[in-house]
Amino acid sequence: MTENNKRDIVCSGIRPTGNLHLGNYFGALRNFVKLQEQYDCYFFVADYHSLTTHPTPDNLYLNARQILIQYLAAGLDPERSTIYFQSDLPQTAELYLFFNMNAYLGELERVTSFKDKVRQNPNNVNAGLLTYPTLMAADILIHKATRVPVGKDQEQHLEMTRTYAQRFNSMYGSEVFPLPQAVGSEGGLVKIPALNGSGKMGKSEGEASTIFLTDEPSVIRKKIMKAKSDSGPTEMNQRKPEEIENLFSLLRAVSKPETVEYFEDLYNRCQIRYGDLKKQLAEDMVAFVEPLRQRILEVGADEQGLRRIIDRGKEKARASADRTLHEVRHVIGYRD
Ligand code: TRP
Repeated sequence: MTENNKRDIVCSGIRPTGNLHLGNYFGALRNFVKLQEQYDCYFFVADYHSLTTHPTPDNLYLNARQILIQYLAAGLDPERSTIYFQSDLPQTAELYLFFNMNAYLGELERVTSFKDKVRQNPNNVNAGLLTYPTLMAADILIHKATRVPVGKDQEQHLEMTRTYAQRFNSMYGSEVFPLPQAVGSEGGLVKIPALNGSGKMGKSEGEASTIFLTDEPSVIRKKIMKAKSDSGPTEMNQRKPEEIENLFSLLRAVSKPETVEYFEDLYNRCQIRYGDLKKQLAEDMVAFVEPLRQRILEVGADEQGLRRIIDRGKEKARASADRTLHEVRHVIGYRD
């Protein structure tokens, strides 16, 4: 292949902090599945990153495995993409060590996500947390990825990835690393709100406000019927308060456009009954999530198939990582 028609390389990962939810699906997974049609993709489960919060061995293993299963159930295809556990690629840890030699305390301390973590957990400010951005840079640059599908909250980390790539290149007078850019967050991502009226859907908003891809129909119905609403509009065409806008956002994500229009119209004429909206939303949500949940169960039950996919992913990821590290070690001055 010539330089010109070389495909962009995509790399991204999700930290295994629990089951994936609708926010992960619309904010990341669905985008990953699309990207694999166009690019050479590396998708991993970030099970080194999860050590910053000191999981037990069982939790570490089971959570990481569950994310891999959910990747596959959502449509990531091991024939097209390289799908692997970050911890199956110790080459990442070596590159992380190299980047850490040129990462400065001041710049790491200024990272927004680090400052948030320090505020939330003042008793667990470990070096892994501080150097989260250099590990993320290593994840991406170990494959020389050029495109990284991440949401807005990861922009700063990606900016630092470019900093470390650039710094390494100029330090060694080389062009080893590309400067990766975000992909897919240009308005293409659907924002999924929490069910409690404010904020994004996610673990921090609590289980009851979050719909997991593994939730059974009865659980989904219950969560949606309890979602926050209000006593209804009092004026025609009134602006929607946040919790109501949120219900509509969820409707837009999983229901037919006609259904959304139908409820919009009722809202604008002050004739909406939120019980009806929620019932419809619950049914459409169940219809959306249930096939995914079934796939998760199927994929998870095929232990041998899973093993094969994990081994194959590891092998492909290592081949790519070894190429990069060989070059990196050489420019640094190791002669092996
Ligand atoms: N920091 C990302 C998150 O919290 C997860 C992640 C780790 C990642 N390494 C990455 C994403 C490399 C993209 C590329 O969501």
